[in-house]
Amino acid sequence: MALWGRRSLGALRLWGPGGERPGPVRAPQSPQSRVWRPVCAGADGVRARAATEPRWREPGSVIGGRRAISLSVGASGIFGSGGNSEKEKLSLQDIAELIRVRACQKVVVMVGAGISTPSGIPDFRSPGSGLYSNLQQYNIPYPEAIFELDFFSHNPKPFFTLAKELYPGNYRPNATHYFLRLLHDKGLLLRLYTQNIDGLERVSGIPTSKLVEAHGTFASATCTVCRRSCPGEDFWADVMADRVPCCPVCTGIVKPDIVFFGEPLPQRFLLHVVDFPMADLLLILGTSLEVEPFASLSEAVRSTVPRLLINRDLVGPFTWRPRSRDVTQLGDVIHSIERLVELLGWTEEMQDLVQRETGKLDRQDR
Ligand code: OAD
Ligand code: ZN
Repeated sequence: MALWGRRSLGALRLWGPGGERPGPVRAPQSPQSRVWRPVCAGADGVRARAATEPRWREPGSVIGGRRAISLSVGASGIFGSGGNSEKEKLSLQDIAELIRVRACQKVVVMVGAGISTPSGIPDFRSPGSGLYSNLQQYNIPYPEAIFELDFFSHNPKPFFTLAKELYPGNYRPNATHYFLRLLHDKGLLLRLYTQNIDGLERVSGIPTSKLVEAHGTFASATCTVCRRSCPGEDFWADVMADRVPCCPVCTGIVKPDIVFFGEPLPQRFLLHVVDFPMADLLLILGTSLEVEPFASLSEAVRSTVPRLLINRDLVGPFTWRPRSRDVTQLGDVIHSIERLVELLGWTEEMQDLVQRETGKLDRQDR
């Protein structure tokens, strides 16, 4: 079906030939997970329901061996050959060194729900703890219905119950968010592409100019009937009081600007066209890379650019199309970030930043 085609397109052709921006769709199966079937379709609105629940890939471990690299030669020397030999494999230490000596200073980051689980927000697909395994109380026919327009238009309540849970202020950023903030403070963050709708990147102090909130945000909302736009503050009172927010002009349901399956992604997602070819390092944190077109961005950096995956398990092209300069750090994201921060020599700065920002949030809560 048409969805598979999109997955194999290159960076500049992530969106269809007519320039349309497809909404999020499940990524195609990797060679390792052939029985997987898509659950949602793209802009054409066609949906193929999964006959089975989403499948989970086996975790693996491909942490590259430490090797001596001459950092004085700069990024080109390191990215140079694109060779495939085992001894050229980079390690987490190498990545830290590339950042430390500023051989990499245009860092693009892709994140997903796994970076917010340490803040107490469940991810989507982790068996048992993930949101999609715990939606019984929402009374919906199948998990992804919570992000489907058809379902929302006849029963918006489950989505607003979830929205209430994600109310800004209910959760706080963790070390991962603050590490990304530090990357920005040091002038190294080219852009942070997030699939998360919890807004914790903003709360951590990363400016919106550095963010692409690919699956939308609760910071604004749009009337589903007259398309009038309003700021988030206008609907939170209703959501917190368990009322479905309605448009003051036409009484249509006001939907927070979260991207539902089949909806176009925000305009800012287009920035990938310039950001990814420019990136000199790609960090991918806490995502299953199961949802398109976001997932394909992981292949949109130049083939010589190192990619670091920090995740509980091996995902996406790190499994089925690994590159010679891939580094994978499997396990808990906080543990990996702390290790990276230590290798970078940023531990003290991180502690100061976290203390400062936590103090700010404490004062706001009073
Ligand atoms: P998923 O739930 O699909 O994947 C989260 C990934 O993070 C999994 O690979 C987990 O193993 C990993 N993970 C969770 N906690 C972790 C931890 N503490 N340390 C390390 N890894 C951890 O979430 P996303 O990839 O973000 O769409 O899902 C993508 C999209 O699917 C979401 O944006 C959402 C959903 O449908 C919309 O909201 C439109
Ligand atoms: Zn309206």
